[in-house]
Amino acid sequence: MCEYCGCQALETIDELTQEHEKVVDLISHLRDARRDGAVARMAELAREITAVLDPHTQVEEHGLFPALAGDFPEQIAALEAEHRRIEAVLAEANGAFLTDPSWPDRLMEAMALLRDHILKEQDGVFPAALANLSTEEWEAVEAVRAEAGSTLSRSAA
Ligand SMILES: [Fe+2]
Repeated sequence: MCEYCGCQALETIDELTQEHEKVVDLISHLRDARRDGAVARMAELAREITAVLDPHTQVEEHGLFPALAGDFPEQIAALEAEHRRIEAVLAEANGAFLTDPSWPDRLMEAMALLRDHILKEQDGVFPAALANLSTEEWEAVEAVRAEAGSTLSRSAA
């Protein structure tokens, strides 16, 4: 094991940030699809967002958040509750979304929440993590990432 210099922490946060950017990009396509009334396309985009968020959320909830929950219990609980709300609406893309006329609007509301949520993480959670996590905690976060995988193409370590 090389001596810990903090570069791995920055890479870990950078990967989470890139996933956020990918999600924000997909949300902008969703807005176009919503405007065009293309519900099947919305469902397809919702499934793409889920694919990005699935490993991302595991890294946050099993790696980053436990390391911060001691100092910020209420904030972390609120972020996890938002994950559940957002996932639930996205998951409807796999079900009878075509027969529920309220889904497109509920999805766009959930995406507004998701954009807000992403800003809270980037302005709050990520800087707090960079300031507070120990080497062992970063290693634990990376272990969760190795297990969870990623939709981003990762450069060889
Ligand atoms: Fe996130």
